Amino acid sequence: MDTRHANDERFNAIAAEWDDDPYRVLMAQKVARAMRAALSPSGQERALEFGAGTGLITLLMVPRLRRLTAMDSSTGMLAVLRQKCARKGLAQVEIVEGSVPEQLPDATFDLIYSSMTLHHIDDVPGLLRLLAAHLEVGGRVALADLDIEDGGFHGGVPGIAHHGFDREVFAGWLRAAGFDEIQFSTAFTLRKARDDGGNADYPIFLAVARKL
Ligand SMILES: C[S@@+](CC[C@H](N)C(=O)[O-])C[C@H]1O[C@@H](n2cnc3c(N)ncnc32)[C@H](O)[C@@H]1O
Repeated sequence: MDTRHANDERFNAIAAEWDDDPYRVLMAQKVARAMRAALSPSGQERALEFGAGTGLITLLMVPRLRRLTAMDSSTGMLAVLRQKCARKGLAQVEIVEGSVPEQLPDATFDLIYSSMTLHHIDDVPGLLRLLAAHLEVGGRVALADLDIEDGGFHGGVPGIAHHGFDREVFAGWLRAAGFDEIQFSTAFTLRKARDDGGNADYPIFLAVARKL
């Protein structure tokens, strides 16, 4: 099975319970807080979030944005997000089912952000080039994911294309895609039990950069 279908099958199966894990909710809060601190959105941005999932980050970002396109490839994850947006009357959120990079919307944005989704995507340098093409000049990306790790984070879970990312390599990909003002911070360090019985710390970086 390819990465995309392995992911859709897995996330559809766990969508209804995704928000029940308090540690996952905490991580999303920390990442959203780091994004808001690094970006200081003006409230006028038209933004795209890919890999929005059930909206744990979406709902924390949308009060700071003018419009948000929330995209994900999993029908199940988006069904949860749809219910939340309907309950809260969030008319400024457009929910789009689709896979990146193939189905990026035919539009440009002021901001594109994502959390914990890049490690599911095979060609990340290619995706970064496409993100640049979908940003206005001066627009920004805010991308959070795992620092490089030994594979222990996901264990044998299918649909994982990368065991995290090296920050210097990632910065090079951003530069090659036409981004500048590249800044990294550590949004959160996740402690997780490993399959071998021990615990390990997994830092999550936030990369923010501006399209030239
Ligand atoms: C680890 S979850 C993170 C969800 C959310 N960002 C959060 O922090 O709670 C990864 C999400 O990315 C989505 N995803 C994986 N590959 C994708 C792709 N190629 N295009 C769009 N969404 C994708 C999955 O369906 C899932 O909802």
